[in-house]
Amino acid sequence: MSVVTACNQQQLPWIPIISALGFLILLGHLITIVRWIITTTSPFRPLKDLRSRYGSWAIVTGCTDGIGRAFAFNLSQKGLNLIVVSRSRDKLERLSEELLAVNEHTLVRILALDFAEDVSDGVRELAKVVKELEVGLLINNVGVTYAAARFFHEVDDQLWRKIVRVNIEWMTKVTRAVLPEMLRREEEPSST
Ligand SMILES: NC(=O)c1ccc[n+]([C@@H]2O[C@H](COP(=O)([O-])OP(=O)(O)OC[C@H]3O[C@@H](n4cnc5c(N)ncnc54)[C@H](OP(=O)(O)O)[C@@H]3O)[C@@H](O)[C@H]2O)c1
Repeated sequence: MSVVTACNQQQLPWIPIISALGFLILLGHLITIVRWIITTTSPFRPLKDLRSRYGSWAIVTGCTDGIGRAFAFNLSQKGLNLIVVSRSRDKLERLSEELLAVNEHTLVRILALDFAEDVSDGVRELAKVVKELEVGLLINNVGVTYAAARFFHEVDDQLWRKIVRVNIEWMTKVTRAVLPEMLRREEEPSST
């Protein structure tokens, strides 16, 4: 009996230390959860007024499908006018009509460019448009990939060259063309 008591007395000092460690770990997790709720829940995190913060126009590339299309509708709902850039003029015109049907006040400009080709003129045009309009946002979403997962050595030359051209070369050139003017405008007080 006396042996057990001595043993308990020896273990006792560790119990508060282990409890404190457990408490700190739990507290860490709790803080992570609370921070996540605060940063993802709109009542705690008022949405930015994109128009007054960045300007009244946004460019969306790769806008006729998928992510870019969703961005186009979302930005239009937030009151932004759009310069929509994609490959197919028909799809762009359809998108423009659909955007206007949802929000008749949205101004939409269309630019049909096939980023798999040489679109130097089109990119210069974009740079010019950014100087004329108050463009403050670029959603540079254009992108292609192969239809199903493949090992790189199985992808034919023509296809991977196209992917590099669209996803890297022209996408980067678009950013490069419009960014300086956007940054210059950011330093000026807003005019609209
Ligand atoms: N969706 C996902 O879950 C996901 C996940 C990770 C990464 N991504 C990447 O994110 C990017 C966009 O994805 P997404 O799902 O929105 O793609 P998507 O639905 O296939 O839409 C691609 C958009 O890019 C345009 N486009 C394609 N080739 C073009 C070209 N040569 N010149 C100009 N425009 C061209 C298409 O226009 P047309 O309609 O005229 O062809 C379309 O508007 C892709 O690179 C994709 O690989 C997507």
